[in-house]
Amino acid sequence: ASRDSLAGRRFVLTAGPTQEPLDPVRFLGNRSSGRMGFALAGALARAGADVDLVAGPVQLTTPPGVKRTDVQTAEEMLAAVLARLEGATGFIGVAAVADYRPVDVATHKIKKSDAVLELRLQPNPDILARVASDPRRPELVMGFAAETRDLETAARGKLAAKDLDLIAANRVGEGLAFDQPDNALEVFSADQCWTLPRQSKQLLAERLVDIIVETLDRHSTD
Ligand code: PMT
Repeated sequence: ASRDSLAGRRFVLTAGPTQEPLDPVRFLGNRSSGRMGFALAGALARAGADVDLVAGPVQLTTPPGVKRTDVQTAEEMLAAVLARLEGATGFIGVAAVADYRPVDVATHKIKKSDAVLELRLQPNPDILARVASDPRRPELVMGFAAETRDLETAARGKLAAKDLDLIAANRVGEGLAFDQPDNALEVFSADQCWTLPRQSKQLLAERLVDIIVETLDRHSTD
């Protein structure tokens, strides 16, 4: 994408993991480092877009030109996204949002004992599906899918079920995806598919911006 191909357009992105507290010192989390989402936020900003990045707990510096908001839980991430949705051209969910959170959050540190400890979990809101069904739905809604098997079927299922314009699917493992410098992606729209072979998340982000620009161009000529 050229330096100004997204000028005047605003994107809201999520990146990183969410952490769901169990007690004052413990949480449920996952291995997302935030790298993929931060790389995409930086690449969109270089293409001239205004970028609002809602980040879970990560150890990364904010890319130049990106406005960052830090959150911890899925519910905080949802609230931060909804507060920034009005007037956005695009929403891209790169975050690995926890699907469940503990039903009870202990006020005091849970004590160790010899008994089995059972955790009860309740589903978290699905941020991506919520954005795609909002009256203020951005023109482009894009998700990511992390899969350990049946990559294409699972990704196409999420594209349709969540009413997305694009989904970028990554296979987890093989030194790719979570907490790795490199990734490989298969990107799907309802009628197109792009294969982005293994490369750095920085370079992948540049390719994703090309696909995003192409998709918005197609929308405007349809
Ligand atoms: O952060 P890195 O270490 O660089 O790793 C990058 C990544 C592997 C985390 C990233 O490339 C990726 O695949 N992100 C999505 C991971 C994921 O949780 O996928 P999912 O299949 O569970 O979710 C599908 C989509 O729904 C995602 O866009 C996710 O943001 C969204 N979702 C999921 C659950 C939920 N409660 N709310 C959501 O919005």
